This record gives sequence, C-alpha cells and structure tokens, in this order.
Amino acid sequence: MAGAAPSLLIFHPRFTRLATTLRPFTLIHHHHHQLAHSQRHFSSVTPHHFNAADITPRAGRTNSVASPPADYAQKIDVNPPKGTRDFPPEEMRLRNWLFNNFREASELFGFEEVDYPVLESEALFIRKAGEEIRDQLYCFEDKGNRRVALRPELTPSLARLVIQKGKSVPLPIKWFAIGQCWRYERMTRGRRREHYQWNMDIIGVPDVTGEAELISSIVTFFKRIGITAKDVGFKISSRKVLQEVLSLYSVPEASFAKACIIIDKMGKIPMEEIKKELKLVDLSNDAIEDLLQVLSMKSLTELEEKLGDAGEAVRELKQLFSLAEKFGYTEWIQFDASVVRGLAYYTGIVFEGFDREGKLRAICGGGRYDHLLSTFGGDDIPACGFGFGDAVIIELLKERQLLPEVPFEVENIVCSLDPDLQGAAATVATILRGKGQCVDLVLENKPLKWVFKRAARINAQRLILVGRSEWERGMVNVKVLSTGEQQEVNLDDLQ
Ligand code: HAM
Repeated sequence: MAGAAPSLLIFHPRFTRLATTLRPFTLIHHHHHQLAHSQRHFSSVTPHHFNAADITPRAGRTNSVASPPADYAQKIDVNPPKGTRDFPPEEMRLRNWLFNNFREASELFGFEEVDYPVLESEALFIRKAGEEIRDQLYCFEDKGNRRVALRPELTPSLARLVIQKGKSVPLPIKWFAIGQCWRYERMTRGRRREHYQWNMDIIGVPDVTGEAELISSIVTFFKRIGITAKDVGFKISSRKVLQEVLSLYSVPEASFAKACIIIDKMGKIPMEEIKKELKLVDLSNDAIEDLLQVLSMKSLTELEEKLGDAGEAVRELKQLFSLAEKFGYTEWIQFDASVVRGLAYYTGIVFEGFDREGKLRAICGGGRYDHLLSTFGGDDIPACGFGFGDAVIIELLKERQLLPEVPFEVENIVCSLDPDLQGAAATVATILRGKGQCVDLVLENKPLKWVFKRAARINAQRLILVGRSEWERGMVNVKVLSTGEQQEVNLDDLQ
C-alpha cells in the first residue's frame, strides 16, 4: 500500500489536476520570487557573481544564510500606518463573522452583492458643498497623470456602475456591498482612516417603502447579532423638512446642500460658528432662527403644526412611521429633526443608528439621494441606501459583552509516526480533503505530545495517525479527540 501511494497522487484523475497545476505553479512562483528577491538583495553588491547559493530562503526562524549587506538592511516599523489595521487570524475570524452577518441580512432581503475598485477617479468624490469627506480624501496622481483617490465611500461608485449598466438592468436595483473605505480622519473611538462599510441600496423606488425596507434590514441584522432596541435606535428625519422651512425665505436653490452640511456640524462646532457659516450661504437671520427652532423638534405632531400636512416632508415621515409599525420595528425608531447627515447628495429621508448610552458615534447612516445619478450625467433615478461601518459596531458589541468567541477549527489533524511515512500522510490528507474534510497536515516529524498540543490549539475533532504496520495493511488509526475513542479505518472507508 505504501508503494501505491505516490502513483495514486500522480495518476488518479482527481489528483492529476493537483499534481500538474498546483505543484509546478507554486514551485515556479516561489523560485521566481526568491530569485527576484535575491537579485534585489545582491545586485548592488555582487552584480556579476550571482549564484545558486543566493537563492536559499532568507526568511524564517532558523536560517543559516548570512545577514543581508548593511546598505540594504533596515529595521522596519512593524505597526501598520496610523489609523489602519492588520487583521491577524483572530481579528480576521471576527471580521468574517461580522461580514457573514452583513451578507446574511442582505440576502434575507433579496439583495445582490456587488463591489467596485478601491481606487477610483478623484472626480467621482468631488462635490462643492463643503463636505468633510472631501477634505479627508486620500488622492494622488498616478503614473499616467490621472487624478485618482482611494474611495471614502461606496455610493459614487454605485452611481457610476448604475449609469454604466443603463437600461440593461431592470429596476428596481437592490444591491449590497462590503468594501474598504479610506478617510483621512481625526482618530476617535470607532473612527479610523480605513474602515469597511456594509452598504445596501435601492435604485428605482421613489416611495418611502424603500427607506422602510432598508431600516428593516438593519434591524434584522442587529437582532441576529444580539443587539436589541434597548441598545440602539434610529433617529429619522427628512431633508425636505429643511427645504420646506427654507422655501419660506427665498433661499437660493444652490445654498440648500451647503446649508445641510453646515447644520450637520451642530454639536461639533460652536453655535455662533454655525450661524456665521449659514449667513455666508445667504440665509437671513430670520431663516436661521426659524431653522434652528425646527431642528430642535423631536415629535412629528409638533412638526406637523409648524409645516402643515400638505408638504411632502410630513407626509413621507408619517408614512415611514406607519410602515415601521407593519414591519414591527416601531420601538427602534424616533423622529429627530436635527438629523441631516453630512453628505451633500441626500434629498429626502435621512437616518442614523445610534447607541442609546450615547458613548459612540453614529453606528450607521443613510437616506434618499434622488439626484446623485443626474449629477454624474445619468438620468434622475430615485435612490436610497445606507452605509454601516465595521468599527463602531465592534465597539458596541464589546461594551455589551456580545462579542462572540470565534475559535479556529480544523476538523482533522493528520500525522505520520515515521519520517518515511510523510508521503503516506500527504496521501491520507489528500483523500480526506477530497471528501470535503478540513485537514491540518503535520509537515515535520514531531513527537506525539507536540501533535496533541497542536490538535487542541486548532480544535481538531479527529487525530489521524499514519503508522507503519497499519499503513502496510492499507489502514490508518483514527482517534476521536472528544471521547478518546480510537479505531483502525481502511483508507477506502475514510470519511
Ligand atoms: P456616512 O454617514 O459617511 O455615509 O458613513 C456611513 C457609516 O460608515 C458611518 O455611520 C460609520 O458607521 C461608518 N464610517 C464612516 N467613516 C468612518 C470612519 N472613518 N471610521 C469608521 N467608520 C466609519 C456614507 O458613506 C454613505 N455613502 C452611506 C450611503 C450609502 N448612503 C446611501 N447609500
């Protein structure tokens, strides 16, 4: 049996693919990489004496190669750039857990996943409304003299793709995405220079049924990860509230988005500063006073008394609150006129998720942006959506002690008991992997004590030992680690 193993690896149709594609690829790739690496190391020192000895691996804990020449050596900073994160395995497992929940919630609502490049044309993100996001842009000129930027958000890319697809995609479009965004932020808790954002957007639905559906999906997500209406809520308003107030004062159309951006800074900069900025965009003292009074409103009834019931703002907000009842998330939402959000393109309903203890910044934010597509040269198509960051929610879960344990798990650990049987162990691992079983193959000759320790670390369910006498009979030893139960299993019966 031991002799049959290598031929199985090479000639079995299932394994020839492995043998012909994987192995040469990794070998060539490795070789090439090391060659390039070595050339870089040595070309300045011994350009004409490059030899095979230089291709030995340099990295690793046990390495006998001489240290690199002093002019090349430099001690690197092992931290990632300020405001960015590494994702070592335990962080990566948590991230995957979170993203899986984002995905599952989106799929429960029938949304399709999309993505866009992290690098986009800078022009996509330049809006002249004084947004913070504009000043935080990571932008530069590429080698072809194009102005490019790392995306600070996903919505402009979504708009670009929707315009590009044109009529080939039937409306409504319901897309979700999870992507890394870059903003040169002042760092605070839950705010960093790079974050991942979960987005859900509906293109082609003019009615607030769209916003109601989006909020429902976030509520569904919260519930699935153990967050309740006692922990978080949504503050909801509409930019049409401001529009209706400003329409009483003949404020220029162009000032509207700018006024919204200024109002969004309330609470972050002094009120005197806010008033000064509002005056600069042509708002009269009367308009400002009226606006500030409306912005303090926390009840729809109060708003209705002020604006009447004829306008769209009140009508849409009332419809949204009545839909929320039908969806079953009334206890999660509240009207709050002070919410305007900091992006220029919102035109109607705006909302944000907040933690009820008030310790953290907005958990998520979104709203309606009916004119974004036309500002990019497309047709006006009604649209709404939200962005939900990965950082604040993790902080919240930590606060509430709801952060899950996501252990590393490999179902099987396979180990040979004899250096000569390393190949046999590889065959066993390949058979199991072919049957969909995850296998950690012990790649060196290690004592059993070490193997058991490793099995515990990777939470293996089974230990499969390849010993000489069993292998000669076509058998391996399978030990179920939870019970200690052990039996010899024929290779053909291995599942
Ligand atoms: P946004 O309000 O700028 O909206 O960001 C949405 C969410 O992304 C925030 O509520 C927060 O969770 C997260 N976030 C933003 N910046 C950071 C940061 N520096 N660090 C950590 N998390 C952050 C948008 O970006 C819109 N494009 C959302 C949208 C989609 N509207 C319609 N569709």
